[in-house]
Amino acid sequence: MTEYALETEGLSKVYRSLRGRVRALEPLDLKVEPGHVFGLLGSNGAGKSTFVKTVLNICKPTSGRARILGIDSRNPAARQHVGYLPEGTQFPRYLTGRGVCEYFGKLMGLSGKALKEDVDRKLKIVGMTDWCDKKITKYSKGMKQRVGLAQAMLGEPRLIILDEPTDGVDPQGRHEIRDVIAGLAKEGVALFINSHLLAEVEAVCDSVGIMYRGRMLRSGPVKDITEEMSIRDGRMQLRFRTGELPDTLPRGFENATRRDYGLDIDVESRDEIPGLIDSLRDAGIPIYEVEHFHASLEEAFLRVMDDGQHAGVGGQQ
Ligand SMILES: Nc1ncnc2c1ncn2[C@@H]1O[C@H](COP(=O)(O)OP(=O)(O)OP(=O)(O)O)[C@@H](O)[C@H]1O
Ligand SMILES: [Mg+2]
Repeated sequence: MTEYALETEGLSKVYRSLRGRVRALEPLDLKVEPGHVFGLLGSNGAGKSTFVKTVLNICKPTSGRARILGIDSRNPAARQHVGYLPEGTQFPRYLTGRGVCEYFGKLMGLSGKALKEDVDRKLKIVGMTDWCDKKITKYSKGMKQRVGLAQAMLGEPRLIILDEPTDGVDPQGRHEIRDVIAGLAKEGVALFINSHLLAEVEAVCDSVGIMYRGRMLRSGPVKDITEEMSIRDGRMQLRFRTGELPDTLPRGFENATRRDYGLDIDVESRDEIPGLIDSLRDAGIPIYEVEHFHASLEEAFLRVMDDGQHAGVGGQQ
């Protein structure tokens, strides 16, 4: 039996407060394999942070269960090999970056030389070696995030959960964090990332889930989701980059749309491509490129959300 890094079955959360009930997470089944990077996407209030907090048993689930590295998450042992960067973490202001890491390292049971070496190594990975002996109060938002990430990597975790890891980090820093994530995954660490930054998630995640009002509208490999969203009404979208076009479009292109670069056309299958190329050639129109149009993750995300809104998902709270 595969041991998943993270596995949930019907995990749900309803918050009860004086203002009533909030169905923050509808029953959700999810599996993340070791060495995989999973990105959870969704707008503000979709339930992403609730999901990770419920998985970690920081929030008590209303129903269902979660297993971390094969252990029921109600058992504290499940969290032994987990690194976690909570959303919007605030560290004690009187500590230095190194102090923060040592503090969390000690809580994990590290001490002495092993603690010092681990802290130095993780601070180096996140590019904070030069700043780690300065007080947290001197840090920018992105520097605090880097220290938070170093803290989440202490003690060789096998699952790392990052809630908005690149919040406030500059583009170069985000790029560096992406490399850190890819490096960890290569070593077999599973990563679960909540994020709003779609291009970034697309670059680093093997699979994504798109959440809307507590419900997972779509999940799977990034490529499957973007490919699925690239097909409109069961038809593939092709983009022809061509030379100048005549007033009357050649045969086969009657329903195509003229663009600055040439023509866009929807086809039933790729078998139609050779015929279309022949038709352009016969008309003496130069072809520079034929491209199968792929939605970006951002375009796919917006379409999934749009479909969810039209279907009235999570209408009543
Ligand atoms: N402790 C709480 N008590 C009551 N309601 C809560 C609590 N925490 C979150 N909620 C509500 O649950 C829903 C999901 O919130 P959550 O923080 O999980 O969303 P999110 O997807 O992480 O959003 P963001 O992108 O803004 O971080 C929201 O409607 C929120 O107001
Ligand atoms: Mg959140």
